[in-house]
Amino acid sequence: MNPSRNPFIAGNWKMHRTVSESVSLARAVADGSRIGPRTEVVVAPVATALAAVGKALEGARVGLSAQNVHWEDQGAFTGELSPGMLKDVGCAYCIVGHSERRQLFGETDANVHRKLLALRRHGLAPIACLGETLSERESGVTYDVLRRQLDGMLGALEREEATALLTGLIIAYEPVWAIGTGRTAKSTDAQSAHAYLRDRIRDRFGEVADTVRILYGGSVKADNAAELLAQPDVDGVLVGGASLDAAGFARIIQAAG
Ligand code: 13P
Repeated sequence: MNPSRNPFIAGNWKMHRTVSESVSLARAVADGSRIGPRTEVVVAPVATALAAVGKALEGARVGLSAQNVHWEDQGAFTGELSPGMLKDVGCAYCIVGHSERRQLFGETDANVHRKLLALRRHGLAPIACLGETLSERESGVTYDVLRRQLDGMLGALEREEATALLTGLIIAYEPVWAIGTGRTAKSTDAQSAHAYLRDRIRDRFGEVADTVRILYGGSVKADNAAELLAQPDVDGVLVGGASLDAAGFARIIQAAG
């Protein structure tokens, strides 16, 4: 972590938990975690639980995130939710471009770009995910993939528009081979990828790169969080499985200080 950026710890609950279970888990996270004064903590329940969890978290130091969004405000888009609808139930954040959505549901960088712009228009902070697959890492193209995904997500913006998009943006580097596998990236490999992403943003858009928080995700647990967070360009973590256990998630939160 770098003291100029506030640590960010997010729990992605994916497709787990009913509404009442989500509310209990959110309360357990809010009541059972010692959250450092500068640390931002966020949970991302399933869409059906967002409203109830949003209510349960009112006044708590834990923010609410959705797991996906559509870029239009309303219309004939069966099954979708708009940024305004997410905001309406208390979301301040939204995950976009998760590898599960890319691999299983056809999410593209171009659509992630539209979603980023729509979220910013509504004042929601995007948590934009990217990361290479195992075969991409093994064939030595990791950084090409990261550059393609980053450039695709940010699009061909002019510097000024890009600064508006990048201010407050959260990026999550989640190597696909580390997600749900118990195989965490080495902290030094995570650092290299994060530094590469930040350098790329700086090359294209300048100093605003230093304000972008870059999270690591992929088999983060209570016993490996501190080492990852000790890296200068790892500004936080995006936690899947381990965030479903409030006590374990609390230990990860504590690792952020
Ligand atoms: P795991 O922590 O279960 O590996 O999941 C990571 C993830 O995909 C978070 O978005």
